[in-house]
Amino acid sequence: MTIPDTIVPDTLVPDTLVKDIAVAVPGATAVFRRYKIDFCCKGGVPLSEAATARGVDLALVLGDLAALNGDETEAPDATEALIPYIVERYHEVHRAEFPEAIRMARRVEAVHRDSPDCPHGLGDLLAIMAHELDEHQAIEEQMLFPAMLGSHYDLTHPVARMMSDHEDLGEQLEALARLTTDFVPPHGACTTWRALYAACQKLDTDLRVHMHLENNILFPRFADLPPVTA
Ligand SMILES: [Fe+2]
Ligand SMILES: [Fe+2]
Repeated sequence: MTIPDTIVPDTLVPDTLVKDIAVAVPGATAVFRRYKIDFCCKGGVPLSEAATARGVDLALVLGDLAALNGDETEAPDATEALIPYIVERYHEVHRAEFPEAIRMARRVEAVHRDSPDCPHGLGDLLAIMAHELDEHQAIEEQMLFPAMLGSHYDLTHPVARMMSDHEDLGEQLEALARLTTDFVPPHGACTTWRALYAACQKLDTDLRVHMHLENNILFPRFADLPPVTA
């Protein structure tokens, strides 16, 4: 797989792959999040195709990408720095934030169970995601990342398993967005309800960037991966 070192935003063409833009253009991931274009698990498609699938105007996306000034804080590039960055910035933050989101979801579901807008099942979904993510991150921290830091043998098989987990997580994030009406609380929602949806949106953003860093930047250095397709 060839990932271009640099893509100049104002020379982007519609058939550039989403994941290549996400890697090469600082700030592009924020634009993709805004348009709900998946850049982590389904980024192996041309930008034009991803925009059509989401029903968004390609010209608007290209315009926003061209306007980027590239000053977004970037993750470190070197593997020895990138791995501890992922663990500290994402693994530990997910572990800290999921329990409070689950607690708030249980509370909202109990108090507002008769409301037509009640996100029934949200607490259970978050609990399943947290449990599966715990197991996934433990494998990365205890086995995969030490192997990446300690040797250069082929890690294609374990990397493929981690990417399969990421795809499952991507589907859970789609369910999370549906349950929370794209993280928009109903009119007149109480503070806990609004805080819950804000917390879910933060989890969604962090998890997508986390998976992008692994799928598109870290993992290809250690595995001969087939192209990711939609
Ligand atoms: Fe991870
Ligand atoms: Fe992962």
